[in-house]
Amino acid sequence: MKNNDMVCVILAAGHACQLSKDIEEDTSGKYEHLRGVPKALLPGPGGKKILDYWWDAIKMRQLFKTVYLVTNADKYKHFERWATASDFPVENIINDGSTVPQNALGSVADLELALRTKKLLGNNVLVIAGDMMFQDHKFNMVQVVEYFNGKADGDLAIYYEMHEQESTSTRGIVEVCPQSHRILRFLEKPSANETSSRNASVVFNLFRSSTISLVPQYLGKHTLLGQRNFGHFMKWLIGEKKVTIYGMKLPTGFQMIGQVGVSDYESWLTYFTNQAAQECSHQPIRMRAYARVGLMGNPSDGFFGKTISLSIANFWAQATIAESDSLRLIPHPLNDPTEFGSLADLYGISSREGYLGGLRLLQAVCKKFYHYCSQKGIALAKRNFTLSYDTNIPRQVGLAGSSAIVTAALRCLMAFFNLTDHDIPKNIQPQFILDVEKEELKINAGLQDRVVQIYEGLVYMDFSRELMESQGHGNYSHLVALNLPPLYLAYLADPSDSGAIHSDVSTRWKQGESEVQEGMRKFAELTDEAAVAIQANDWQKLADLMNDNFNLRRSLYGDAALGNDNLRMINIGRNAGAAVKFPGSGGAVLGLLTDPSKMAELRELYQAKGCVVVEIIPKFPDLV
Ligand SMILES: *[C@@H]1O[C@H](CO)[C@@H](O)[C@H](O)[C@H]1NC(C)=O
Ligand SMILES: *[C@@H]1O[C@H](CO)[C@@H](O)[C@H](O)[C@H]1NC(C)=O
Ligand SMILES: *[C@@H]1O[C@H](CO)[C@@H](O)[C@H](O)[C@H]1NC(C)=O
Ligand SMILES: *[C@@H]1O[C@H](CO)[C@@H](O)[C@H](O)[C@H]1NC(C)=O
Ligand SMILES: *[C@@H]1O[C@H](CO)[C@@H](O)[C@H](O)[C@H]1NC(C)=O
Repeated sequence: MKNNDMVCVILAAGHACQLSKDIEEDTSGKYEHLRGVPKALLPGPGGKKILDYWWDAIKMRQLFKTVYLVTNADKYKHFERWATASDFPVENIINDGSTVPQNALGSVADLELALRTKKLLGNNVLVIAGDMMFQDHKFNMVQVVEYFNGKADGDLAIYYEMHEQESTSTRGIVEVCPQSHRILRFLEKPSANETSSRNASVVFNLFRSSTISLVPQYLGKHTLLGQRNFGHFMKWLIGEKKVTIYGMKLPTGFQMIGQVGVSDYESWLTYFTNQAAQECSHQPIRMRAYARVGLMGNPSDGFFGKTISLSIANFWAQATIAESDSLRLIPHPLNDPTEFGSLADLYGISSREGYLGGLRLLQAVCKKFYHYCSQKGIALAKRNFTLSYDTNIPRQVGLAGSSAIVTAALRCLMAFFNLTDHDIPKNIQPQFILDVEKEELKINAGLQDRVVQIYEGLVYMDFSRELMESQGHGNYSHLVALNLPPLYLAYLADPSDSGAIHSDVSTRWKQGESEVQEGMRKFAELTDEAAVAIQANDWQKLADLMNDNFNLRRSLYGDAALGNDNLRMINIGRNAGAAVKFPGSGGAVLGLLTDPSKMAELRELYQAKGCVVVEIIPKFPDLV
């Protein structure tokens, strides 16, 4: 059971011998002003003291009832001076009495000193090593505390992914369960062959009062100074006491841990300062996601089926993100109009296009992104941004325009916050996007559009029930297609009146109606045959299968659900020798012409009926 009484103990009693010695011996004069200064009070990136960064992160919003600082007798005066200048209560500084490394207590004993003298047993405690350097603005203490409060049954340990220059043998390394985020193993300074993990734990932990009460027991059993540091304590908690501790990854690096020299100080200071400068360049990040056509298979996959889809370069959504002073979502001038020529103009636009622009999608994806990262223990840098979007995907013709906006925005957020496919795995991203649309916007759909938008190219998807239920996602693979024959899209220039009525196939499927179940199996079969045809470059076979696919859909859904306009577009193509089907849920048709010379004639036939014809340019994934 967690209470809200959380206190914070900052540890700054270590003796930084190497560093003081280096500074002492420096003859360049560069470090003159740093002589005798304790490590925690050295200037960090941007010139602010290392401890000030911590103090700024801790003191906000009254997250902690009280904050204590443990220092040693040698440097006490420095911290006292710092406290009066920084509005830190001087009476909360605890002096551990040590003057040299030989009579140091060890960090766990320093914590115990604070617990005992300030009567803190019974509280939840945040413990921090106040002399570690990190990059400013790189995490949000509120998110850390919320994550801890959300996990009733465990403590929280912060870790970061080590920079390639760092060696595992200098850090406590954690192995974290990717699903539960529990720390499975804690290795104190292992050599690289003992673990594949590059996740380094630092003294930045939130303990429940029950775990805090184990500190005296630990010290009773471990009397040697070398065992009284946090690495050994964490290892004991996890390995021997089987205490549940969750890991949370912070996007920043931590440096200046333990005994370091002046060269480390110099190089990390430069590194963090340069990184901050790069980020402040306000260089916008632009990301695109493409529309798609469903080439084969189930109409919309809530049916555990199989499909093949192709992303197309003709139509895309693009999101743009850049650092800014405040957090802003920018309405799109055409899609989220807020100014109109007249009331009649407002009436016309609203009747034609509804009032559901992309702005709400941006808001929903940001909300879900924060929630996801909070749940998964991924802390986000404290940076504000401006997010905007643009799209040329025609509305209401079923080309996955909404998911394209969500996908592009997700890519922007990931890049902006420096997350990779390790943080949100690629096979999970489609579900993330679908959840945004489903939960936040009540759009009812399946995964397939999001899968092809994430993977791009010609993608074969297997959503078999066994796969979905065992791994939480389908099997997705790229098909290699050389020389695809001409594919075209046709849709009504003014699609507002497609006349289609809502189908009941989904309900019938859920009720187990055999005709529908059998139909869905057949779609999956057609998909497998199509995959074979594509790999054999057998376009006539593919054309036949596309026609079969449409015929099956027509028999399952019925003409009323397909809509007269849609059927007319199918027939125009068929009569001219094309294989035609729906690329999505209706509103447009997708045609394949095995005889490219007929394209011009076909285009005119469609145009005569008020349709727009677009020759498809496939979008294959960028090679990396
Ligand atoms: C290291 O952390 C990342 C990010 O949280 C996680 O995905 C990965 O599984 C961790 N690695 C190990 C070996 O625990
Ligand atoms: C791991 O590496 C260390 C030193 O790099 C070596 O002493 C040890 O034998 C290695 N262990 C194994 C199991 O290979
Ligand atoms: C983000 O924007 C808010 C509102 O303008 C501001 O108060 C806050 O300081 C900003 N945060 C950062 C990290 O810039
Ligand atoms: C982004 O993360 C990677 C690995 O986690 C790290 O090496 C890199 O320095 C980070 N970049 C920024 C700007 O934080
Ligand atoms: C799904 O993919 C995995 C890994 O690529 C493979 O081992 C497995 O056989 C596939 N399952 C099916 C049903 O195709």
